[in-house]
Amino acid sequence: MDKGTPGAILLKDYRPPAHLIETVDLRFDLRDDVTTVRATLTVRRNPACAEAQDAADTVEHPPLVLDGQRLELVSVALDGRALTPDCYTVDADRLTIPHVPDAFTLETVVRIKPQENTALEGLYTSSGNYCTQCEAEGFRKITYFPDRPDVMARYSTRIEADKARYPVLLSNGNPVDSGDCPDGRHWARWEDPFPKPCYLFALVAGNLRCVEDRFRTRSGRDVALRIYVEPGNEDKVDHAMASLKRSMAWDEEVFGLEYDLDIFNIVAVSDFNMGAMENKSLNVFNTKYVLAKPETATDQDFLNIEAVVAHEYFHNWTGNRVTCRDWFQLSLKEGLTVFRDQEFSADMHSRPVKRIAEVQRLRTVQFPEDASAMAHPVRPDSYVEINNFYTPTVYDKGAEVIRMIHTLLGRERFRKGMDLYFARHDGQAVTCDDFVAAMADASGVDLAQFSLWYRQAGTPVLDVAGAYDAAARTYRLTVRQSVPPTPGQPAKQPMHIPLAMGLTGPDGRDLPLRLAGEDAAAGTGRVLEIRRAEEVFEFVDVPARPVPSLLRGFSAPVRLKTDLSDADLAFLMAHDSDAFNRWEAGQTLGTRILLGMIAGGGNGTLPDAYVRAMEALLEDAAADPAFAAQALVLPGEAYLATQMEVVDPVAIHEAREAARRALATALRPRWLATYRANAGNEPFAVDAAAIGRRALKNLSLAYLMALGDDEALGLCVGQFHGAHAMTDAIAALQFLADTDTPEREAALGAFHDRWKDEPLVMDKWFMVRATSKRADALADVTRLLAHPAFEIRNPNKVYALIGAFAGGNPVRFHAADGAGYAFLADQVLRIDPINPQVAARLMGPFSRLRRFDTGRQDLMRAQLRRIVAQSGLSPDVYEVASKSLG
Ligand code: TRP
Ligand code: ZN
Repeated sequence: MDKGTPGAILLKDYRPPAHLIETVDLRFDLRDDVTTVRATLTVRRNPACAEAQDAADTVEHPPLVLDGQRLELVSVALDGRALTPDCYTVDADRLTIPHVPDAFTLETVVRIKPQENTALEGLYTSSGNYCTQCEAEGFRKITYFPDRPDVMARYSTRIEADKARYPVLLSNGNPVDSGDCPDGRHWARWEDPFPKPCYLFALVAGNLRCVEDRFRTRSGRDVALRIYVEPGNEDKVDHAMASLKRSMAWDEEVFGLEYDLDIFNIVAVSDFNMGAMENKSLNVFNTKYVLAKPETATDQDFLNIEAVVAHEYFHNWTGNRVTCRDWFQLSLKEGLTVFRDQEFSADMHSRPVKRIAEVQRLRTVQFPEDASAMAHPVRPDSYVEINNFYTPTVYDKGAEVIRMIHTLLGRERFRKGMDLYFARHDGQAVTCDDFVAAMADASGVDLAQFSLWYRQAGTPVLDVAGAYDAAARTYRLTVRQSVPPTPGQPAKQPMHIPLAMGLTGPDGRDLPLRLAGEDAAAGTGRVLEIRRAEEVFEFVDVPARPVPSLLRGFSAPVRLKTDLSDADLAFLMAHDSDAFNRWEAGQTLGTRILLGMIAGGGNGTLPDAYVRAMEALLEDAAADPAFAAQALVLPGEAYLATQMEVVDPVAIHEAREAARRALATALRPRWLATYRANAGNEPFAVDAAAIGRRALKNLSLAYLMALGDDEALGLCVGQFHGAHAMTDAIAALQFLADTDTPEREAALGAFHDRWKDEPLVMDKWFMVRATSKRADALADVTRLLAHPAFEIRNPNKVYALIGAFAGGNPVRFHAADGAGYAFLADQVLRIDPINPQVAARLMGPFSRLRRFDTGRQDLMRAQLRRIVAQSGLSPDVYEVASKSLG
């Protein structure tokens, strides 16, 4: 799409690096005013390129070009001799040395100012501690270097700093030496034996407390596990540590992958642009993905911590040992690592409940992106700012692509493919094609057409129709696929799609599946492979009209359209042997009903069959509370929006609230009983069963609070004040926050007073207020910008208040007068000079403007034009704004 966008980087322009770096020796002198970085690189001409050039008869050696931004160059020396300024050129983005030998040592000295670095990329300070964030292109803000992932080098790092204020000095690899300096300072040296791309470099210096544990790998290596936090937080790392040990054991068991050093460090910092970062042996985490105890963290926080700790740990093999050739291949490591962390979580908890959560996220976040101005393939062809491509498409759709390979190959052949991938590519920087080739070669499965999933953007639509012939006892499924046009890709080819399915007989049991031409039935569930625009499958020996259960487990990231009747859906809701599809049938039926209500003005009543189906789920809830808590939720506003031709956020909200009240009224005694049955004060545990019971209890309370009578209010207030666990406190607070009662103000005040010194808990308080359905939400959010606990420089705070309002409160953000849009544009313009990555991320809602009515589109466009007109705009914000304007 960017073929013509100025400044766009194109995949087709990829060239191997002209120079390779063997070793890097870094010396950091951390001072209050300025930090000095001395880098010694051993450089040699890339033999691969040299050959190509010799063949082309180029005698000239290529110039050495090193990336560097916001660096003050002090000196350059080549093979020990200082270079005079006429021997090199420096501009805002690079250092170029035109004449260099085939192999040499280069020493540069630069000065940087981490204390002034509010973009949180490169070396910066957070709560007074030094830390780094180099992915994707932050290393160039630390020193001059070929800042690209296909240049892999061995690093040694010396850190020197004031001993009292920065007692802890960390970098990648092993600590090899340390000592004191005369003037109250000290130093430490670290060596990383594994060659790595510079985006995996990390340094930490600070006043941190460490909690230590051990893990013995299955080959007998004893690994020291250390989690570093600010003093006072030592009591909140147990869960992260336990999660780390579970991840290490799981990766050995499932993939045969062992940790490869004697030390694994995690550092938690409060100012961080994303979730966490997999730097070799020194993972740096946003505090929100480390710190938890039941009083301060919700069940969802506990699950997120487990998943993110696992994700970063799994990167040690999928990302670090085998890394990306270039940033177009980002999904090589991210899609694969998300798939691995999803499988880990599924094994630790309920697999169907985990799958439901993944699909909800995919459909409410990734599908909209795939239908937006920012739509791009899992492996993009171009970008202006790579930081804008750490997207749901690269991560979550990328994980779905891996999952489909897993489905097509089966568990054993997938594992063989992984083994071959590591056998071939350990220590290399490779492409998504290399990964697919390993999978195809190890399994013998042809994945040529499948690889379109990496190249074609847009969510495919699968249209499936069934026909039963009672006389012939056959059932015919006709499957049609199409992929919608996306920016830069007007016409699409058919994809290779695994369609997992079964046929449900009248008694609710799966029928044996035998396709015409087959000798015998091969089980009751199978994966149909769709390759052409239209495919027909004929099942024989089908004794009665079945109800097809399609796309079981959401076997492909597609929009499924079927001809199932409401009665079919209610039947699957009760009987499908695939738990995911049981949930899905309820969602599809609920969506139909809600869309009908939206079309009819939003005050219809619910069909009795639907109410009875929900009642049946509720009666059965004790058997699997976690599943029931998912199945009893009406399709969300964000999902309903994806199902409308033109999104009407107000109508969606009103219809869904009306339906919630109807369901609450119809089943009130049941909700009350379910609430009471699950409200016992059992000891707090974060296992799947306990989490499920709390979820079901709080869902019951949500329905009761939809009616808002005195009894409900009493229960809610009681739960809020009596809660021991944050899950229960925040649920109650959230329901109260939607009300217009004195209890609301009292609860918000009490929560604030109790937690005002816990930043992560205050994030929840901001988020509850920002997502309140009350008409005054925007006024409240605007006021809260001046609250003492709000900090515009802290990404967590920005996401909790501004991000939560714009992305999580559609009915208020999309107010017809455009006030929400003007507010968001104001905040983007204010944050851009501070932190472009965060500012660009806030603009997500603007990039989806095409989905709305022309009135709202015009209002959003006006704000985008105001943003684009701003001088000195970052490439991050410019790219999103200009593409959204289209
Ligand atoms: N590689 C990180 C992960 O997914 C992502 C990440 C962390 C990141 N910090 C970042 C990406 C800053 C871009 C910029 O695990
Ligand atoms: Zn990752």
